[in-house]
Amino acid sequence: MAMQQADALVFFGASGDLAHKKVFPALAALVRNGRLDVPIIGVAKAGWTLEQLINRAEDSIKLNGTYDPDVFKKLASLLRYVDGDYNEETTFRELREQLHNAKRPLHYLAIPPSLFAQVAGGLHLSGCATNARIVVEKPFGRGLHSARQLNQLLHQYFPEGSIFRIDHYLGKETVQNLLYFRFANSFVEPIWNRLYIESVQITMAENFGVEGRGRFYEEAGAIRDVVQNHLLQVVAMLAMEAPAGHEVEAIRDEKARIFKAMRPLRADDVVRGQYVGYRDEDGVEKQSTVETFVALRLHIGTWRWAGVPIYIRAGKKLPVTTTEVRVELRRPPHVVFREVEPRYSNYFRFRLTPNLVIALGARAKQSGEAMVGENVELVATEDEGDAMSPYERLLGDAMEGDETLFARQDEVEAAWKVVDGVLGDGVPVHLYQPGTWGPEEANKFFGRNGAWQNPEA
Ligand code: BG6
Repeated sequence: MAMQQADALVFFGASGDLAHKKVFPALAALVRNGRLDVPIIGVAKAGWTLEQLINRAEDSIKLNGTYDPDVFKKLASLLRYVDGDYNEETTFRELREQLHNAKRPLHYLAIPPSLFAQVAGGLHLSGCATNARIVVEKPFGRGLHSARQLNQLLHQYFPEGSIFRIDHYLGKETVQNLLYFRFANSFVEPIWNRLYIESVQITMAENFGVEGRGRFYEEAGAIRDVVQNHLLQVVAMLAMEAPAGHEVEAIRDEKARIFKAMRPLRADDVVRGQYVGYRDEDGVEKQSTVETFVALRLHIGTWRWAGVPIYIRAGKKLPVTTTEVRVELRRPPHVVFREVEPRYSNYFRFRLTPNLVIALGARAKQSGEAMVGENVELVATEDEGDAMSPYERLLGDAMEGDETLFARQDEVEAAWKVVDGVLGDGVPVHLYQPGTWGPEEANKFFGRNGAWQNPEA
């Protein structure tokens, strides 16, 4: 299907948290950058008027975005509002009316996945799905089975080319840079394999808890919330072969191959943790065994990656908030210089949040008579953060019909296959104190020569 600009943007969940934190600021940025000049219709069951929606948008942008009165005036003039229950036919009839002559609307479902079926069906019956695109939030399903069901359901009304599965990590400048750095530099490729790489570590640490999202989190847990999507996508970017050609599907084809080569996790590959105090959060069961921390060891069965463990760790209430990838290189094959502490260290470090860093860890000689070294870091690039927020980038791409940065059905299903066997209570959950690096058990993957490398704040 040729890419065509959508001529209306509908977003469900207009009164929700995601809209307030991310969507309105992204819409304002799109308007500011001249990428959005079509009707924007918010849908919610909040009993609001259009004026209340506009007030909410203003509040959101002042708090979470960049507020410019002229840009806001323009955005407000594009906003429309439909109030109603997603179960009611009348809601979708009114939406159809608000769409007027729009021929290629984009529907963004910023709502809990349990409502997707209802909304997709309502869009279809009211004629709003014709020639439309649909953007759905992660997690896409709760496991392999439900993801397949959801795909089948959406495919009844939308062809695959019109379904945009959002994963905001793919819209991050830093994640894009990871891909760029790998394939724009000729020195990386020769060493990017099992002969030179010892292991990979990915840590996604957050120093806050579930912050009022207890109810959502009880349904998810760290594996569903960030591993199946964000972190496995990062692994795919790190491990994929160079895309052949410039077609939209070239990158997604290579990523999909890696997802399919990931070995499904077994119970002994995974350690689950829960911070002390989680059970007292609003919306959380008193006996909850949902994980707020996970550490795991993943293998990719390809010629390039066989035998290279990929360690992934994600958790809430850890000491810092940052996501880092560390690619550890093998030691030199022969000891020329006697090593003293700190030990040998050659690595690539990619910092993905909250700012961008690409660095190379190396050994250099300390000045003086002895041939004694120290660890140094060569920083290739460092930047404060996203010039363009992931939501601005992704919603803009979806409006234009560019699917490159969205997850394809086969990627999502293959990623669920990786984690499916370790969802739920098959793996015990260990408590950990807030402000620590998770339960002690998370160190079990390493022998004498390895350890988790804790990123700095
Ligand atoms: C979301 C998760 O997808 O990503 C959250 O639901 C998590 O639990 C968030 O905090 C992290 O994203 P970012 O971009 O703020 O690092």
